[in-house]
Amino acid sequence: MLTLGHDVRVRLLSDGDWSAVARLEARVYGPLGLSEGEEALASRARISPGTCYAVDSGAHLAGYLVALPYPPFRSPDLARTEHTKFRTANLHLHDLAVAERFRGRGLARRLLERLTATARDERYERISLIAVAGSAPFWTARGFRPHREVALPASYGTDATYMSMAVPGRRRG
Ligand SMILES: CC(C)(COP(=O)(O)OP(=O)(O)OC[C@H]1O[C@@H](n2cnc3c(N)ncnc32)[C@H](O)[C@@H]1OP(=O)(O)O)[C@@H](O)C(=O)NCCC(=O)NCCS
Repeated sequence: MLTLGHDVRVRLLSDGDWSAVARLEARVYGPLGLSEGEEALASRARISPGTCYAVDSGAHLAGYLVALPYPPFRSPDLARTEHTKFRTANLHLHDLAVAERFRGRGLARRLLERLTATARDERYERISLIAVAGSAPFWTARGFRPHREVALPASYGTDATYMSMAVPGRRRG
């Protein structure tokens, strides 16, 4: 069995990661009809490089997280590239994926901890996301709450829910 130890590292996503990220994105979301492709995903990461991370296990890219500022209750359209950096206190966790063989070992938790620490430091008030592919219970267990009234772009399909939470441990004022 694969074990994870001190060789697990969360770091900022860099230009050299994109072929591995695009392969993982296509593998995870392609079968669901939700793959946006490298150009669209990279366009969102370029908006906010400081809130996009990779997690490595040794020499392998084991997962990634892409987040960018986005107005509350609005959502990037998977069918379009992103060009606008919004000024908003809402940080949108656009995509989080961990490669199949590295799952269940806390890597998503590590990526989320890094994101919430950055969100606190940069004084974001809320984090939002769109739960797809039956992942809503995963997010509920991590403090996110659904906003079922929020309409989503058709590109997310029918099994998708907008969710958000206040940034944990945020200093007020
Ligand atoms: C969801 C995902 C990122 C979790 O990554 P991970 O590194 O395995 O997560 P962690 O190890 O930090 O946490 C694993 C826990 O989440 C739970 N979990 C994973 N997927 C879940 C789901 N769809 N619903 C409910 N719980 C889920 C596991 O059962 C495990 O629970 P435990 O800690 O009580 O044993 C990964 O399964 C993945 O990439 N899935 C495909 C892409 C996806 O759905 N991304 C989210 C889209 S919004």
